[in-house]
Amino acid sequence: MKVVETITEMREARRQLTEPVGFVPTMGYFHEGHLSLIRRARADNPSVVVSIFVNPTQFGPHEDFDTYPRDPERDLALLEKERADIVFMPSVAQMYPPGFNSWVEVSKLTERLEGASRPGHFRGVATVVTKLFNIVQPNVAYFGQKDAQQAIVIRKMVADLNMNLEIVILPTVREPDGLATSSRNAYLNAEERQAATVLYRALSLAQKLWAQGEKDAEHIRQEMKALIQKEPLATIDYVSIADPQTLEEQDQIKPPALASLAVKIGKTRLIDNMVLE
Ligand code: PAJ
Repeated sequence: MKVVETITEMREARRQLTEPVGFVPTMGYFHEGHLSLIRRARADNPSVVVSIFVNPTQFGPHEDFDTYPRDPERDLALLEKERADIVFMPSVAQMYPPGFNSWVEVSKLTERLEGASRPGHFRGVATVVTKLFNIVQPNVAYFGQKDAQQAIVIRKMVADLNMNLEIVILPTVREPDGLATSSRNAYLNAEERQAATVLYRALSLAQKLWAQGEKDAEHIRQEMKALIQKEPLATIDYVSIADPQTLEEQDQIKPPALASLAVKIGKTRLIDNMVLE
């Protein structure tokens, strides 16, 4: 396994790889969700590149860039075990040298949900993912359904800008009690960790109501909100049942519908989603 820190070294290492090259972009602090993407990339390709880069441009000024959990040594040991070929770990100065001034904007889709709550977030994501694609030049890149809107935005960007690679989206990995694995779960104390199951419970309720024949999306959103409000440590940011193509809120549910939510547990903001088929 080769660990490279500069763009020049990454390009040089890329030239030695056998195609297809599978790529998993990450911000590190690995959990089973990350590992599921890496394992799929490993199973499907002769070459696997993983990037670890906590991207400052996708964090708002009052968000957790500085405190975002990092453990490069543990991450590298895990990647060694998963038999990654190349780990790309650039510095912020490599990716954003002084005078950096070009941005990738995906319109419309990024105005809703996460985009509405986190202005500029998807501009940072789209820009860094474009840069990583240009540097690594993968044939296939793997993303998680956990960040449903991110996956939708990246698919749209790749289509609109004719990027020459395939995007694969893999299912959300969960803890036994349903909580989606996330690097940010590390922020939760024991009591908050317990409360955090409310996201999965609310999504499961939506799934159950839909399965029982409820088609009124607003009714389901209200039931989800009522359930979350019973949890004293939880504060709702949004609860949505939307069209997975446009992310517009649905009135009458037309499957597939994307049920998604963002909830603060104490100071930690968590997101999750389920597709109502
Ligand atoms: P990060 O949060 O580290 O996530 C890296 C990848 O792992 C993303 O595609 C994300 O959707 C996926 N992932 C996270 N939790 C998951 C889970 N529980 N199950 C399945 N997949 C999961 O997402 C980012 O980093 C960044 O925005 C990035 C794309 C790297 C750009 O900076």
